[in-house]
Amino acid sequence: MSDASREILLSARDVRKTYRMGRVDVPVLKGASLEVEAGEWIAVLGASGSGKSTLLHLLGDLDQADPGGGEIRFAGRHVIQNSQRARNRYRNRSIGFVFQFYHLLPELNVLENTLLPALVGLSRLGYYAQRSELRSTARELLESFGLGHRLKHRPRELSGGERQRVAIARALMNKPTVLLADEPTGNLDEETGKGILDLLAEQHASGLTIVMVTHDPDIAARADRVVTLHDGRVVE
Ligand SMILES: Nc1ncnc2c1ncn2[C@@H]1O[C@H](COP(=O)(O)OP(=O)(O)O)[C@@H](O)[C@H]1O
Ligand SMILES: [Mg+2]
Repeated sequence: MSDASREILLSARDVRKTYRMGRVDVPVLKGASLEVEAGEWIAVLGASGSGKSTLLHLLGDLDQADPGGGEIRFAGRHVIQNSQRARNRYRNRSIGFVFQFYHLLPELNVLENTLLPALVGLSRLGYYAQRSELRSTARELLESFGLGHRLKHRPRELSGGERQRVAIARALMNKPTVLLADEPTGNLDEETGKGILDLLAEQHASGLTIVMVTHDPDIAARADRVVTLHDGRVVE
């Protein structure tokens, strides 16, 4: 496309990632490239073990590519060249991450789990100054996800679908620009999974950019665009 209005928000260019297993190098990404436009919902489809989670972790700066192994850019900036502070801010503010297995903290209730990114991103004083505002933001998010009656419940008291809704609320708490979703319905039955995809579709309709990885072509088909991860590279 040559459309000048096309804005690349997040990109991976020629990214390589090798895991070391004892004395053996296992190359997983072998020059993967991906461009995500602002406002787009893209699905990366790939078999189990193809490197989908690895790619998503690199996009979110939760892990790093091999030295010299390509670059991840967000809003034009080479993510790992930023200061540590800017990188923390990127992870905490610009990106929201949703995992297949929710990763909620079992000892915190639903409201507290949702508030966590706000707590992490602010000083203690900053948090207390904005506490009631943040709590109402979290409560409203949870209510809009049909969890208003669950605020004081612990994750183990919730169904899988409810847990993933909480995880999405947490990911959206700091109003990220991009949501990175790693097999967000992978642990759910089809009906519940559809509910989660509908929820992502609503967020997308209100402007959220989404990168979702999945092994399931039917789930990938919910996105605007599907690319495939194969043999360490992204193919259109
Ligand atoms: N931390 C790690 N150490 C060693 N090998 C890993 C690590 N993480 C992933 N791998 C390997 O890299 C490959 C890709 O993993 P992953 O990105 O999780 O694939 P996917 O999400 O597509 O199933 C797999 O063979 C996996 O075993
Ligand atoms: Mg995975």
